[in-house]
Amino acid sequence: MEQSTHQPKPAVTTEGIILKVENILSRLNPATVFQKEQPIEVELGSGDGSFIAAYARAHPESNFFAVERLLGRLRKIEKKSKRFGLSNICGLRIEAGYFLDFLLPHPSAQAIHVYFPDPWPKRKHRPNRLINEEFTLRCTRVLRPGGVVYLRTDDLDYFQQMKRVFDANKNFQEVPTPESISSFITDFERNFHTQGVPTLAAAYRLVAASI
Ligand SMILES: C[S@@+](CC[C@H](N)C(=O)[O-])C[C@H]1O[C@@H](n2cnc3c(N)ncnc32)[C@H](O)[C@@H]1O
Repeated sequence: MEQSTHQPKPAVTTEGIILKVENILSRLNPATVFQKEQPIEVELGSGDGSFIAAYARAHPESNFFAVERLLGRLRKIEKKSKRFGLSNICGLRIEAGYFLDFLLPHPSAQAIHVYFPDPWPKRKHRPNRLINEEFTLRCTRVLRPGGVVYLRTDDLDYFQQMKRVFDANKNFQEVPTPESISSFITDFERNFHTQGVPTLAAAYRLVAASI
């Protein structure tokens, strides 16, 4: 029988720290993305990268995916990463839910960071919020056992929703947010603090993985 010469497209190519996903139907292979095989952490909606660039710099023993849908913000993350000489961070321009469902291997992440996601304050827009019941199921599939979801917001209603959906998912247990993480401030957080708006933070550990 004749052998096929067809080569599947590589899943990714890199341009700086920004991954170009060539084949969105295959999961990423972290071994081909990062220089070293190390524990993986993910930030969804990284904005200008104030958190993830500083945090990745402080944690060379881990690898980081920065997921952000705006290219201009990814470029800012890239600039910071270059300035810090980081080789443990990769940025992706993709929708956060798609990344968790279809690109990240299941399970693979030690931590998921979601800081100041768009609050969608109008009642009719609330279905657009990232953190909902479905998000807790996504985290159950993506996190390694013992992995933690870290959440921050300025919006009380969204904070109550975050707590309600994670409290209702019995695979998760609330844990304190360590100072070693909360001390890394995000861009939006810095602005909120300047205006006297406090951070509402919560964290949930995956203690079981039955869906
Ligand atoms: C309010 S900003 C917060 C940025 C950053 N986390 C901070 O605290 O400074 C929310 C960010 O999430 C990004 N974003 C919103 N929805 C997203 C989605 N579904 N997938 C990926 N990024 C998203 C936006 O482009 C924006 O940069």
